[in-house]
Amino acid sequence: MRRVVVTGLGAITPLGVGIRRTWNRLLAGDSGIVSIAKSAPQWRELPSTVAGIVPEGSKEEGGWKALDWLERGDERRMAKFTQYAIAATEMALEDAGWRPNKQEDKEATGVCLGSGIGNLEELYNTSVAYDKTGYKKVSPLFVPQLLINLGAGHISMKYGFQGPNHAVTTACTTGAHAIGDASRFIAFGDADVMIAGGSESCIHPLALAGFSRSRSLATAFNHDPTSSSRPFDQDRCGFVIAEGAGVVVLEELEHAKARGADIYAEVRGYGCSGDAHHVTAPREDGLGALLAMKRALKNANIVPNDVNYINAHATSTQLGDAAENAAITTLMLGPEGVESGCQIAVSSTKGAIGHLLGAAGAVEAIFSILAVKENVLPPTLNLHNVGDGFKCNYVPLAAQDKTVNVALSNSFGFGGTNASLAFSKYK
Ligand SMILES: *[C@@H]1O[C@H](CO)[C@@H](O)[C@H](O)[C@H]1NC(C)=O
Ligand SMILES: *[C@@H]1O[C@H](CO)[C@@H](O)[C@H](O)[C@H]1NC(C)=O
Repeated sequence: MRRVVVTGLGAITPLGVGIRRTWNRLLAGDSGIVSIAKSAPQWRELPSTVAGIVPEGSKEEGGWKALDWLERGDERRMAKFTQYAIAATEMALEDAGWRPNKQEDKEATGVCLGSGIGNLEELYNTSVAYDKTGYKKVSPLFVPQLLINLGAGHISMKYGFQGPNHAVTTACTTGAHAIGDASRFIAFGDADVMIAGGSESCIHPLALAGFSRSRSLATAFNHDPTSSSRPFDQDRCGFVIAEGAGVVVLEELEHAKARGADIYAEVRGYGCSGDAHHVTAPREDGLGALLAMKRALKNANIVPNDVNYINAHATSTQLGDAAENAAITTLMLGPEGVESGCQIAVSSTKGAIGHLLGAAGAVEAIFSILAVKENVLPPTLNLHNVGDGFKCNYVPLAAQDKTVNVALSNSFGFGGTNASLAFSKYK
């Protein structure tokens, strides 16, 4: 089987534009969660008024300004999630030093990028306009603005990439599935280089209304936004919606070596499973998550004891964090393991950036790759008290130094879809 390595990273998160800025602030314990209560009147009545928002501002300060990354007119043509995807791709390609001009290189480069929800704002505005004024108010750009695969489409058009062009949409597992599927395209010889990841921007009152009605969001910390996302903590009460994008450049090992590319890590394994249980709730024993992790390790030919770090999906909900913790504990120690304590380090970076939905798996994969590359564990913010049954090292509050040979990155989505990615040091 052809080996797949990571040679470029790009990200936009509530901690800033650019992976270096995000990573440094994450390790420093900063939070990107803010109050949105004052943004518009319809926000105020919502039960949750906190979110992880990409900061606006200049490139130098790590802020977002669309025209730093897009051509004039693109802003009107492209959904916000596509704009973020384009910018994160530009950063990742720059980082990888991959700027192919030759036709055969463009044909060997593909894109696999998705979104969980897509362009909710356009859908909302157009629905309202159509209802009020009818057919003529619908823009000819409406359909291309709406389709989720247009993120991947616009990237291929901008750079001329003619390899596989694919868009995953599996709710909050999107980013992880995109990277995992892209690695298989390379392993099976469909491409030598893949641009892979996820992007999301749907912080709209309608999205918060929907997630509030499904009782998914944190509602107890509206007065204290940075405390609201608290994975594994006893007082966790729901996730914090967030936006951004994560993109990696994946490359076939010999291809990367031949051009002297710097290698961050190897994509060693990928496992997927379905809970076959419930639309929004996990199985209590975490069986779906356990199967995904087991399959990723089997695919990687690695035993659980070789794993040094798990970047958990843990979104800060009571049920989800407990189920994932049960799965991790069972994986590491067997069913009775809870008693004996657990050596594995597990953190959830959602404490700092919230839940980026379709982008979460991609951004968190990048954090796992950097943990492998730099031997440092990003912290779980706001973790002051763990509950019964939580017996691992959850990297509370502050980053920790630790040799990381293998890291897992977990992602789970509504519908009961679970995926786990395994990254290892390239040797
Ligand atoms: C949707 O409508 C609001 C209110 O008129 C406006 O501020 C916003 O820019 C519109 N969004 C899009 C994507 O057109
Ligand atoms: C698998 O994904 C679904 C969707 O979030 C989730 O309900 C379930 O928690 C996941 N499995 C586990 C055991 O975490």
